[in-house]
Amino acid sequence: MLKEVARLIKKSKRGVVLTGAGISAESGVPTFRGQDGLWKQYRPEELATLNAFLADPGLVWEWYNWRRELISQVKPNPGHYALCEFRNWFEDFTLITQNVDGLHRQAGLEDILELHGNINLNICVGCRRTDASVTAIDPADIAVCKHCGEKLRPGVVWFGEMLPQDVIRESFKKAESADIFFSVGTSALVHPAAALPVAAKQNGAVLVEINPDRTPLTALADYYFAAKSGELLPQLVAAVKEEAGG
Ligand code: OAD
Repeated sequence: MLKEVARLIKKSKRGVVLTGAGISAESGVPTFRGQDGLWKQYRPEELATLNAFLADPGLVWEWYNWRRELISQVKPNPGHYALCEFRNWFEDFTLITQNVDGLHRQAGLEDILELHGNINLNICVGCRRTDASVTAIDPADIAVCKHCGEKLRPGVVWFGEMLPQDVIRESFKKAESADIFFSVGTSALVHPAAALPVAAKQNGAVLVEINPDRTPLTALADYYFAAKSGELLPQLVAAVKEEAGG
């Protein structure tokens, strides 16, 4: 199956990859819906919302500070590095990620479509301006916006919030024109990101899924690899290299 996908890659001009928390799992970043996704007794859905922040901003910041600390200590894994090779294979390559951990960038990829923002940014909960001057946030004394005096919040997209419109528009454009689309390490449950592979497939792309567990997307995938991305992606890189040499 790897050889077949490698052959298809060689024939494709436009490649798109969508990643989710699973690509960073082997770096030690907990996924959202896995066993390790809980913090204290809370599920991410209970904390990653504007209502949670308005009700108890200190608690939400405590969680984000914990996640920031964790993310600052982890490194990209072989899956992230393997994806850097993808940009050499296609005339037009696009990486779309739901992750806020910045590990794709750390691995060396630029021009990433970040659907859910970046955890290291602080933005104003009122006017949404980014404040680059404040780095650490004290949950007991949350820094406020210099412009409007509202509290700063993390620069990520929360449940129930709109995604950055330019980023989602560009993501759909790329998905709809893709020859081959890879869905890697995402539970394919959170919309609108989950609609991207479907849009790609409906517009004629070959759909490849890499995930140790089946998802709602699996039945639609042309190729499904029940594997960890940190193991499978380097194997795919090797298969493409072999194909190029053969
Ligand atoms: P989830 O936690 O929902 O799903 C992670 C997926 O990765 C699961 O399907 C796992 O089976 C898979 N997985 C685990 N280990 C893996 C590995 N080593 N290799 C490959 N796959 C692996 O995370 P997302 O799909 O990213 O949104 O969740 C989507 C969004 O929901 C997140 O961006 C976040 C979350 O709440 C917001 O914060 C708005």
